[in-house]
Amino acid sequence: MSTIEAKQFDRGMRWIERLGIGHLRRKLLHGVNGRVLEVGAGTGANLPLYGRSTQIALIDIKPDRLQLARQKSEKPNTPATCANAHHLPFASNQFDVVVGTLVFCSIPQPELALAEIKRVLKPDGRLLLLEHTRGHGPISRRFTDWLHPLWFALQGECHLNRETAVTVQEAGFTLEHNSVHGYGLLQMMKASVNR
Ligand SMILES: C[S@@+](CC[C@H](N)C(=O)[O-])C[C@H]1O[C@@H](n2cnc3c(N)ncnc32)[C@H](O)[C@@H]1O
Repeated sequence: MSTIEAKQFDRGMRWIERLGIGHLRRKLLHGVNGRVLEVGAGTGANLPLYGRSTQIALIDIKPDRLQLARQKSEKPNTPATCANAHHLPFASNQFDVVVGTLVFCSIPQPELALAEIKRVLKPDGRLLLLEHTRGHGPISRRFTDWLHPLWFALQGECHLNRETAVTVQEAGFTLEHNSVHGYGLLQMMKASVNR
């Protein structure tokens, strides 16, 4: 059984979808194929967007959210594992694509997670991210920096002003695509591994 928390989280995420993030998810995942790992998959908002031939594995640190993702999935056998992105429970060189949406804001040590993602990706694998980040314009940057301490104190998980694109590059990835959306607050990144 999924908990009340997971159901409330799911309802909250549906509001975020209504703000228009859906088309960015579709753009991020368009044409994704092969063996895919989604980190921080939550209640499975991206599941309907993967092609039929894609072999997906999900991880999240919260088992109840994964349980809800399983209940909603058209493929009830989708492997969904409760795990911390800091220590991925997979052998090296396994995945063609690793996906993360709205997750690097809350992973405590993003550099550890990125090292793990690099390890499990095949040499020609790709990392696809859609993240909210530190604002890109002078106003949005000031807004995220200003709001972050209160926001983090209230919910203790999500960082409003991370510079995820910089962390991704420092972790040994090359950004092939990096676009800014949502008033400078959302970033779509497609990266390959530096080998
Ligand atoms: C804002 S939700 C986004 C969920 C989903 N990716 C989406 O786009 O709707 C962030 C998710 O990341 C998960 N998460 C946070 N830190 C994590 C970690 N260290 N390892 C794995 N999952 C994590 C949370 O439990 C949560 O489900």
